[in-house]
Amino acid sequence: MTKSQNQMWGGRFTAGPDAIMEAINASIEFDQRIASQDIQGSRAHAAMLGAVGIISDSDSNAIREGLLTILSEIETGNFPFQVALEDIHMNIESRLKDLIGEPAGRLHTGRSRNDQVATDFKLWVRDQMDAAIKGIEALMNALLQQAKAGADWVMPGFTHLQTAQPVTWGHHMMAYVEMLARDKSRFEDARRRMNESPLGAAALAGTSFPIDREMTANALGFDRPSANSLDAVSDRDFALEFLGVASICAMHLSRLSEELVIWSSSQFQFVSLSDRFSTGSSIMPQKKNPDAAELIRAKIGRIFGANVALMMVMKGLPLAYSKDMQEDKEQVFDAADSLMLALAAMTGMISDMTANRENLRAAATSGFSTATDLADWLVRALGMPFREAHHVTGSLVAMAETQGCDLRDLTLEQMQSVHQAITRAVFEVLTVENSVASRRSYGGTAPEQVWMQIARWEEFLS
Ligand code: ARG
Repeated sequence: MTKSQNQMWGGRFTAGPDAIMEAINASIEFDQRIASQDIQGSRAHAAMLGAVGIISDSDSNAIREGLLTILSEIETGNFPFQVALEDIHMNIESRLKDLIGEPAGRLHTGRSRNDQVATDFKLWVRDQMDAAIKGIEALMNALLQQAKAGADWVMPGFTHLQTAQPVTWGHHMMAYVEMLARDKSRFEDARRRMNESPLGAAALAGTSFPIDREMTANALGFDRPSANSLDAVSDRDFALEFLGVASICAMHLSRLSEELVIWSSSQFQFVSLSDRFSTGSSIMPQKKNPDAAELIRAKIGRIFGANVALMMVMKGLPLAYSKDMQEDKEQVFDAADSLMLALAAMTGMISDMTANRENLRAAATSGFSTATDLADWLVRALGMPFREAHHVTGSLVAMAETQGCDLRDLTLEQMQSVHQAITRAVFEVLTVENSVASRRSYGGTAPEQVWMQIARWEEFLS
């Protein structure tokens, strides 16, 4: 091949591309990542071309064998990638010609790089969706183990990051299981919707060859061929959905990360992270830093950034294919790598983490965390309207605050000075254990409710 023409499309050209043109045009640096999907797609296409008689069986076999050789060359790092051949599709087809000669030129019958790249990329994204689902399940399992270990341990529940009411450790862990279950179901849902084969849409209009799109769709694990060839080559919704779902999942991971950063601080000491998932400081010998949590917290930036970037690439593109769409891959690659790493690191951190039961309980008993229980008691035992009970409790909290003690440290006489009808029975609702045990409403924090949810999710995940 001369440098002056691209042998794959150079027929009408007399001069080769400027070096700058080559630099902006070539995608081989990054789209080598979809090489195995490209080979899978081409093998399915060649098998179909042979089966329906568009090419001979011997050509079809030679193509498919040659593609396997190329796959092993790529896997062993022996494939001669050439920037002059632009992208993975033409690199592979050109190499196929070196290996098997004339039949290689028949592979591209009835298809285009437009349906080819859409197919390859869909196969790649689909694999990532499956990997994300697995990663999420592993993290859900790690959280379930934590929930089981401390289903009834009492900790402060927060609103505004201020102590609100006592909750159970198990309940807090299971909240993240719920979030991740939604992420998992969003990936499953997106996967179902995207699972249509673009292959055979050709450049944009379909083809005059009698191809069998059902056959290639089947061979590639798609549910059906896509029904509109213009849409098939121009659709990148599947990549956007992947990024959208990944963004929400990464947002959840960033929230959990933030809790780990707070909980592992020396001010809180709710948990200790393992050495395996912490780092030291080069100057401060006492430090053990939650770097993994902080990095996971930051990954949302890249993932959501990719989502926005691809949305901007696709915005305003007329039908059908435009070269803009080549800018889809790097964003998705980076987002997928970031998500998988974040899921794996979070799973490791959660599995290794030790919660400090005593510190959790001690924190739960401060900050007048059972004030709502007191107000509820006034309603239940004395028939007081809740608004009034709220007011009376407020006065008791103020009294305790001035005395520098907790509600349960007030004497009965002191309580009765605020409201005469209060009896000794009130002290029972002021312990954090009784507080959480009382919240038995469905989905509440009572240990029995938490165990019910643990059992439900354990069965779901097994
Ligand atoms: N490298 C291209 C991409 O990733 C392949 C499709 C090229 N199609 C074309 N009509 N130039 O989008």
